[in-house]
Amino acid sequence: MLDFTGADVKSRAVAPMNFSLTIRLVLAGSALLLHAQAADDAKAVKLKFTGSPSCSSTSCHGGGTGRNECVIYEHKDRHAVSYGILGKGTSLRIAESLGIVGDPAKAAQCNVCHAPMQGVPLERLMKDTHADKGVGCESCHGPAENWRLFHTRPDVSFQQIVATGMRDLNDIYGRANTCVACHLNLDEPIRRAGHPELYFELDGQALAEPPHYKDERPSLGPRQWLTGQAAALRELSWKLAAKRDEALVPRWKALVWLLRKTDAGKKELPSGEDFGAVQTAADQLARNAAKTLWTKEQTAALLKDYAGLRAEFSEPKADKAELRLRAEVLVPALDRLWRAHKKETGAESADFEPALDHANLLAREGEDFDPAKFASALEELQAAFAKGGK
Ligand code: HEC
Ligand code: HEC
Ligand code: HEC
Repeated sequence: MLDFTGADVKSRAVAPMNFSLTIRLVLAGSALLLHAQAADDAKAVKLKFTGSPSCSSTSCHGGGTGRNECVIYEHKDRHAVSYGILGKGTSLRIAESLGIVGDPAKAAQCNVCHAPMQGVPLERLMKDTHADKGVGCESCHGPAENWRLFHTRPDVSFQQIVATGMRDLNDIYGRANTCVACHLNLDEPIRRAGHPELYFELDGQALAEPPHYKDERPSLGPRQWLTGQAAALRELSWKLAAKRDEALVPRWKALVWLLRKTDAGKKELPSGEDFGAVQTAADQLARNAAKTLWTKEQTAALLKDYAGLRAEFSEPKADKAELRLRAEVLVPALDRLWRAHKKETGAESADFEPALDHANLLAREGEDFDPAKFASALEELQAAFAKGGK
């Protein structure tokens, strides 16, 4: 498992486009800007964390409406409890079967995602601060040493703040890279030990996080969805390029299948099993997707295409395991596109959402997944879309 000594940080930092890892290193104490070159990295890894309490005074982010980010986080956000659950029932059982001795919150295998600051060397913490429990403000926003005092000044631009180490989460690509680091993929032993399966879909998860910010930019939904899935494909490709893993290949194939049905994916993603080439292409796809606005016609057209895929499940050309994984990524795609479509066109269909719920249940049946049943759920969806979808 990952080890966060300074030496390791530096050697890993040079690996190009290993985002999960780079991000985790960022979380764990360095301020590597993504794809920063080695020289910059050496500088950046020294940045320190100031800890969540330094954000939470009532005149800063712990105040009333409009500056209550910490209050929302403490009371509602699951990231605030991600440390606490490591000491409880399921975690102890998972830890036991992994042979972790002692407190799972102290084990890198768990705290890398659940309590990243617990794994940070002490010299990366500002004087008189304690390592955050849970996934704290700086786990997402970046170590605040150089910007905490400076980021409130009216004469300072957002870009200047970003240059001092705040992560640009306003950039959907940067946002996707942040979330995907913890939400996409578990090492096989942890999964086998009974950890809940992870599903990554940026748009839904960004909205599921209790909002401590507003983001109402045009066509955000499809952009976030596509950027997130492309980032996920890049991460899986990177893992597979480093070492082929038969358990992961079908997941990778399912994502390629999904994304090659989008206009951008068709153009960018090569066919065939060249993981390295797909990694590069998927990264480009994610960067472009973050910036590309969708028209409502484009959203509707892709939704229609995806809802029309019944035959791929009723007369399958792939094996059942792969079909299940295709269903698993198709359903959230339908969900996010439908949501955007409804918002943009006022489309209504009393049948679409129940049909989608049904498809979702079928897609999550694991070993019992039945492609024929899923095909008929898609048929219901297609009919519902044709009736009310506009
Ligand atoms: C350092 C790792 C880490 C990062 C970065 C991270 N998360 Fe999480 N997230 C977790 C963990 C661990 C949990 C589980 C907490 C629990 O239930 O105890 C979680 C839970 C959640 C949940 C609640 C569970 C669910 O699926 O509904 C949402 C929503 C979520 N994260 C969204 C996001 C989004 C959006 C981002 C990026 C902006 C993000 N997370 C970044 C680790 C992370
Ligand atoms: C790759 C990042 C990652 C690692 C490593 C990881 N987890 Fe998680 N874990 C998550 C995320 C993300 C969730 C939330 C899943 C969701 O609900 O969407 C989660 C959820 C959980 C849950 C269910 C939480 C709840 O509120 O119901 C438990 C229990 C858990 N993890 C324990 C562990 C233990 C113990 C370890 C170490 C052996 C570990 N995790 C390692 C990312 C991780
Ligand atoms: C799971 C990741 C995550 C965590 C944890 C998190 N944030 Fe955020 N935060 C985001 C994202 C994503 C945005 C949206 C970025 C944007 O649109 O600029 C955001 C936006 C914000 C904004 C608004 C920025 C703006 O320009 O509108 C503030 C302020 C903020 N966060 C403060 C905090 C504080 C304080 C904490 C700790 C209590 C915290 N955040 C924890 C992900 C996170």
